[in-house]
Amino acid sequence: MANAFLFLLLLIFYSNITFENIHACNQSERSSLLSFALTLSSPQLNWTSADCCNWEGVTCNQGGWITHLQLPSKGLKLKEGTFLSSSLGNLRHLTHLNLSYNSFFGSLDQTEFFLSLNDLEILDLSFNLLFGVLPSSLPSSHIRMVDLSSNRLHGAVPYSFFQQAWNLTSFNVSNNTFSGPIPSSICRSFSSSLRHLDFSFNNFTGSISSGLGKCSKLQVFRAGHNYLSGSLPEDMFNSTTLEEISLPLNSLNGAMSDGIANLTNLTTLDLSYNQLSGVLPLHLEKLSKLKYILLDFNYLEGSLPLSLMNCTNLVELRMGNNNLGGDISMLNFSKLSQLSKLDLRKNNFFGILPRSIYSCKFLKAIRLNYNNLEVQIHPEILSLKYLSFLSLGCNKRLTDVTGSIKILMGCKRLAYLSLASSFLGEEMPNGVEMADFHGFRYLQILDLNSCNLSGIIPSWLSKLKKLQILDLEHNRITGTIPSWLGTLPRLNSLMMQFNLLSGEIPKELCTLPMLVSGQTAAQVGRIYLELPIYYSPSGHAKLLQYNYIFYTPFIHLGHNCLSGNIPIEIGQLQLLHQLDLSANNFSGNIPDQISNLKYMEILDLSMNHLSGKIPASFRGLNFLSRFNVSYNNLRGPIPSSTQLQSFNASAFEGNRKLCGAPLPNKCQRTTGADAPDMSPQDADTKEHQIPWFYVSVALGFITGFWGVCGPLVLMRK
Ligand SMILES: *[C@@H]1O[C@H](CO)[C@@H](O)[C@H](O)[C@H]1NC(C)=O
Ligand SMILES: *[C@@H]1O[C@H](CO)[C@@H](O)[C@H](O)[C@H]1NC(C)=O
Ligand SMILES: *[C@@H]1O[C@H](CO)[C@@H](O)[C@H](O)[C@H]1NC(C)=O
Ligand SMILES: *[C@@H]1O[C@H](CO)[C@@H](O)[C@H](O)[C@H]1NC(C)=O
Ligand SMILES: *[C@@H]1O[C@H](CO)[C@@H](O)[C@H](O)[C@H]1NC(C)=O
Ligand SMILES: *[C@@H]1O[C@H](CO)[C@@H](O)[C@H](O)[C@H]1NC(C)=O
Ligand SMILES: *[C@@H]1O[C@H](CO)[C@@H](O)[C@H](O)[C@H]1NC(C)=O
Ligand SMILES: *[C@@H]1O[C@H](CO)[C@@H](O)[C@H](O)[C@H]1NC(C)=O
Ligand SMILES: *[C@@H]1O[C@H](CO)[C@@H](O)[C@H](O)[C@H]1NC(C)=O
Ligand SMILES: *[C@@H]1O[C@H](CO)[C@@H](O)[C@H](O)[C@H]1NC(C)=O
Ligand SMILES: *[C@@H]1O[C@H](CO)[C@@H](O)[C@H](O)[C@H]1NC(C)=O
Ligand SMILES: *[C@@H]1O[C@H](CO)[C@@H](O)[C@H](O)[C@H]1NC(C)=O
Repeated sequence: MANAFLFLLLLIFYSNITFENIHACNQSERSSLLSFALTLSSPQLNWTSADCCNWEGVTCNQGGWITHLQLPSKGLKLKEGTFLSSSLGNLRHLTHLNLSYNSFFGSLDQTEFFLSLNDLEILDLSFNLLFGVLPSSLPSSHIRMVDLSSNRLHGAVPYSFFQQAWNLTSFNVSNNTFSGPIPSSICRSFSSSLRHLDFSFNNFTGSISSGLGKCSKLQVFRAGHNYLSGSLPEDMFNSTTLEEISLPLNSLNGAMSDGIANLTNLTTLDLSYNQLSGVLPLHLEKLSKLKYILLDFNYLEGSLPLSLMNCTNLVELRMGNNNLGGDISMLNFSKLSQLSKLDLRKNNFFGILPRSIYSCKFLKAIRLNYNNLEVQIHPEILSLKYLSFLSLGCNKRLTDVTGSIKILMGCKRLAYLSLASSFLGEEMPNGVEMADFHGFRYLQILDLNSCNLSGIIPSWLSKLKKLQILDLEHNRITGTIPSWLGTLPRLNSLMMQFNLLSGEIPKELCTLPMLVSGQTAAQVGRIYLELPIYYSPSGHAKLLQYNYIFYTPFIHLGHNCLSGNIPIEIGQLQLLHQLDLSANNFSGNIPDQISNLKYMEILDLSMNHLSGKIPASFRGLNFLSRFNVSYNNLRGPIPSSTQLQSFNASAFEGNRKLCGAPLPNKCQRTTGADAPDMSPQDADTKEHQIPWFYVSVALGFITGFWGVCGPLVLMRK
């Protein structure tokens, strides 16, 4: 009896569930979903059970109407020839649609589904392959959040698109190819609920017209990486709720308004890579929440406002490449206890670096090069426990290289040290004074370029087990290349050109672990730089920015007094990308083994006394982009390969007995008589030097400080 009762109870309970299930999902909505699923080529959604409210990604309300369709990152693709199905338009009660991170293809304005979703509140179609122009307006007056970012949409974003979007709080169309003006009027009459606006990474043009000031709740405004011009609209500074203004990489001009002082909630101000001029606003002390102030690459002038030193939450202060100046010793850094990155590169600051900088305990990166500062390495720098990037070169006075190195070797985390154009004419620290050398355990890049240092390559360098790039070019270093250099476990790029090195290339250099084995090389990834480095290829208005240094090994020994044969062991350096031995006294044949270096991009053996033929195996050097064997004593035919013949004759000239294309003289049985006579004076003595970061660094790029993506080419003017 009791059992029967229990059975009955169970039966009621069970049938109750099935009852609910049967009525949970409206059959017509179910078939709409199914016809949507039919347009998908892959992968198949597991949409089989009777109640569509239980399907993956589907949520219904109490009435059994589908309210949420959320299928992000499912790898969904449409079948060829189909568009985002209009059957979705039948889901009249849909409030949330999230199809982000899929491969949906098609044009939004051609699918009526968009306009029939009259209850839609949240729309996320980001990271798909949508193209075409925007539909005439947003689908619903209830819409709160729209993310169409990272698609291929184009055309204008007109004011009319926002018709009746009373409650819009977030609008993101970044990373498309939208053009025309930014719809500042979006705030004019209604969408005062807007909090986040992101127009960055598009083709927007024109000036930012006023209107944003009406968005009384605006917190984030991004429109970087566009073609915006004109000055910042004054009314923007009425939006005192603003927390982030990011407009890098535009052509904004004019001075920075004093109005910025009223944006007391501002944490991020990124106006880098624009054409802003004039002096900085004097009163910034109310910006107590400011963390990131990025104004690099503008035409700002005057001094840093003292009030900036009252912005106690500053994390990054980056104002490199401006016309700023003033006496840096006037600044008191002691309140900037959170400061992590300080970049004042390429300005006109003068004076002595204030000791208060050492109270910024969290400093990771300091770059003050190309100013007129009187910098000296002070032992107090050791209190910066996190310092990993230090660049102080190209200033007025940095002396005592030995003392400086002895202090800096105690900076435990230092990975990048550049003191180029300093210590002019001193002697390379070496010998007894460096006997107690220890430290630099994590140093990856050491740059003592153009310091005019004399002496030999010091042996303490042999203790830098993490060193990857050593730049000692343009000094007066004498003696031979030490054989221990070949044992440095991480060394892959060596710049020693323009010195007075003599003797032969030690065979040990041809055993550099990073260059002989791909396995070893794979262990070191790219070098992350706390601050990006820049290079402008000569003759170009372009400026390239690098955030990472990738492994692209090279050995530059040009313009020294090296002699002897080029060791045949050089063929072991299989991963070498560049070899410059130009303007030395090398003699003998060009070793055939160089053709083992399959990744070779630049090979310069010009201006030596090399004789014999160009090895026939050079036909196999497929990656060569620069090649030069001019001004040697080479003879015989230039091996024919599409690669070698693609270079100018100047790459081969000055070798009297060399013949064949691209040289004008044809190869004959007896060369000599009518071979063109070129005197060594024709040598191109302007052999231009290749900055290591240009050649060694694969392109990296940041968007402010958020992420990394493709190459950044910055056009100036
Ligand atoms: C299902 O939805 C359609 C319209 O979408 C409606 O006509 C029909 O009455 C609904 N069926 C039920 C059982 O609610
Ligand atoms: C499909 O979903 C049902 C439940 O809805 C589940 O029982 C079944 O294992 C799923 N099948 C696959 C292949 O994931
Ligand atoms: C859509 O889904 C993705 C992935 O889960 C999520 O990151 C994103 O926040 C969602 N979009 C919205 C508007 O909630
Ligand atoms: C806008 O939001 C408010 C408050 O959340 C709500 O009362 C109102 O109905 C919404 N308006 C529309 C058109 O959705
Ligand atoms: C807009 O979307 C992009 C991804 O496409 C994201 O990186 C960015 O943070 C979003 N903007 C805002 C303001 O959330
Ligand atoms: C822009 O979109 C492309 C393609 O979806 C994506 O790979 C890239 O990361 C996006 N860039 C940004 C800055 O969001
Ligand atoms: C966007 O601007 C870039 C650079 O000027 C241009 O190459 C591209 O064609 C433009 N795209 C569109 C859709 O206008
Ligand atoms: C800023 O707001 C004030 C009043 O809130 C108004 O008088 C002023 O005109 C506004 N400024 C701009 C530039 O719109
Ligand atoms: C600044 O932010 C705080 C908290 O986020 C908020 O309470 C305050 O109203 C904001 N101030 C202004 C001027 O918007
Ligand atoms: C800052 O706001 C105050 C009060 O709203 C206003 O009087 C003042 O003019 C504003 N300052 C600037 C520089 O816009
Ligand atoms: C910085 O703040 C201190 C006290 O908080 C104040 O006395 C000083 O005047 C401020 N300096 C500037 C330049 O605003
Ligand atoms: C810098 O400011 C701190 C207080 O914030 C003060 O103790 C110190 O004396 C100041 N240093 C100089 C050089 O003015």
